[in-house]
Amino acid sequence: MSTITAAITAVGGYVPDYVLTNKILETMVDTNDEWITTRTGIKERRILKDKDKGTSYLAIQAAKDLLKKSNTDPKDIDMVIMATATPDMPVAVTGVYVATQIGAVNAFSYDLVAACSSFLFGMSTAAKYIESGRYKKVLLIGADKMSSIIDYEDRATCIIFGDGGGAVLFEPNTEGLGVKDEILRTDGAGRPHLKIDAGGSILPASAETVANKQHYVFQDGKTVFKFAVSNMADVSEKIMVRNGLSGEDVQWLVPHQANKRIIDATANRMKLPEEKVMINIHKYGNTTSATLPLCLRDYEKQLKKGDNLVFASFGGGFTWGAVYVKWAYNS
Ligand code: UT7
Repeated sequence: MSTITAAITAVGGYVPDYVLTNKILETMVDTNDEWITTRTGIKERRILKDKDKGTSYLAIQAAKDLLKKSNTDPKDIDMVIMATATPDMPVAVTGVYVATQIGAVNAFSYDLVAACSSFLFGMSTAAKYIESGRYKKVLLIGADKMSSIIDYEDRATCIIFGDGGGAVLFEPNTEGLGVKDEILRTDGAGRPHLKIDAGGSILPASAETVANKQHYVFQDGKTVFKFAVSNMADVSEKIMVRNGLSGEDVQWLVPHQANKRIIDATANRMKLPEEKVMINIHKYGNTTSATLPLCLRDYEKQLKKGDNLVFASFGGGFTWGAVYVKWAYNS
């Protein structure tokens, strides 16, 4: 019997219409286009302005895009994994609502939270369900309404993040295509450096926490940058070495879009030229769980069956890792 691997067989994505440019941010906080561009690579980001819409809206649009493009019947989906750091609400699982809204009535669902590595870790989880042989169609969605947790008076964070959603479908493959290897890492020493202090079980919401702005993202950018630059490059290099891949064997790096300088450092370590690196940070900023699937959505037409892709991410926690995928189809 041939081994079952988990192949990506379809992708979809969605970003809201409203464009928050560096120029607009210049009118909101003490910053400038030149600083943001040279320090991060970001020119603009998309923001979901509708007050009554949450992360599920972004996820539903991304999933619908995938279903339509791939002509997939949602009733055939066995499972929906919702990777997100900004669920619609506590307790009521966002993925469950999304699954119902897209008509995946035969699927079970749960949310997977690993900050900016939520989607990467979700790839590992989705792959295991497929490899078990028990599930045939697993939909992995990465979506975040980062604007719901950002202080637009804090220039250290508001210039970085944007809203978006992306989705991929995993199906069994017997040609050896799909997820081939993974290196996933975590380190709780990272907790003080990227977090939201209030709204959880340690510091529940109160008038005081709201007044103190403790429901917004806090990031010690310099420290996170230092860890991200070395750790993302380390795992990306390691996964290449252990699979006997040189820079020439890898067609694409699919990196988390947190900072162009972190992406460049990873690509350099992997000895990959710029044209092999998926980049959309200039358009969307850091969309947290949506960066990797939005890269696939934007570059899908350039991907060829058999291409070697290395996905890499770094995020709060700290959480980080690399996943090696052999691409399964030509568009
Ligand atoms: O996705 C999850 C993981 N997150 C990351 O990977 C993010 C990692 N960190 C970063 O990408 C970078 O640290 C930032 C983009 C957040 C900041 O860039 P940096 O090069 O580390 O800047 P910095 O915080 O060291 O600040 C340098 C200077 C400071 O001024 P002084 O003290 O040198 O006078 C800041 O006050 O730049 C100043 N600054 C700004 N100036 C204009 C900080 N933010 C801004 C701003 N506009 N928005």
